Amino acid sequence: MLNRRNFLAGAVVVTASGALAACSKKEASGGGGSGSKTITLGFSQVGSESGWRSANTKSVKDAAAAAGITLKFSDAQQKQENQIQAIRDYIAQKVDVISFSPVVTSGWDTVLKEAKDAKIPVILTDRQVDSDASLYVTLVGSDFELEGERMAHQLEKVLAASPVNPVNIAVLEGTTGSAPAIERAKGFKKVMDASHPDWKVVVSQTGDFTRDGGKQVMAAFLQSHPEINVLFAHNDDMGIGAIQSIEAAGKKAGSDIKIVTIDGVHDGFVAMSQGKINAISECNPLLGPQLMETIKTVLNGGTVDKWIKTKESDFLADQAAALLPKREY
Ligand code: AHR
Repeated sequence: MLNRRNFLAGAVVVTASGALAACSKKEASGGGGSGSKTITLGFSQVGSESGWRSANTKSVKDAAAAAGITLKFSDAQQKQENQIQAIRDYIAQKVDVISFSPVVTSGWDTVLKEAKDAKIPVILTDRQVDSDASLYVTLVGSDFELEGERMAHQLEKVLAASPVNPVNIAVLEGTTGSAPAIERAKGFKKVMDASHPDWKVVVSQTGDFTRDGGKQVMAAFLQSHPEINVLFAHNDDMGIGAIQSIEAAGKKAGSDIKIVTIDGVHDGFVAMSQGKINAISECNPLLGPQLMETIKTVLNGGTVDKWIKTKESDFLADQAAALLPKREY
């Protein structure tokens, strides 16, 4: 299986003279360039499962408008079959470029080959696939494995300031089979295995990246594992949902149960400023401008990295109140 690290280690750059981009070289302008043709982008979004996703959708729509790119947008409601259908529709409509945030990593080979046969370049955004890297031009998105590692290092800091013994961790996983769920778990485990034999994951289950999922699953965790004293939620929304169940069970979020989450959306920062989330590792959803820039470069025959990574930061609760007014999403 090809993951981000594998394909990074392999072909690092592609050029517009390469197979995919060359097929679609059309002097694309997207309004801002010197060419004559307006670019049409077919974009398939995962859904609207989280605050992160809403911010990402807004970023893509705003950036397309600002770049003068005609956007055809569809929301797959977290279903792979809807994304595959949307991509097939975009192929039939002969758009200039297709971009999508894949709900899961596997099962894309056939439709990606169809796009390639139609000579339409595909640019992945946010999440990776396990297909052959020759089937898409580039990925604009985060290093999820690194996010998992960063989260474990944030937890080290939280526990250094306020130790618990033993360390009994519950994990709320993202959507099963999705790149962020797979890679964040991998990164977190890597740090645990290397440095923290005393940390124990007592229970781990998906909450599907949703607030309600986090709430329901955490309520069940508290029943079956009252010894939990740390929660690692793969995103803020599940952490926020879990806080509701923790408080309903008469426990104090942030102290009886330390909580660390990934994303850094507005509501996550509010919970962190209230001391209910102890640390957040950022996953930046504002990918729109970089995506539009990449599209123009590719369609105009330029060179792009095979993986265009997002810049991100880490935060502890004592930073939250000061940073909250400055957060962009
Ligand atoms: O792929 C990014 C993840 O998807 C975000 O962490 C999560 O909130 C979203 O639903």
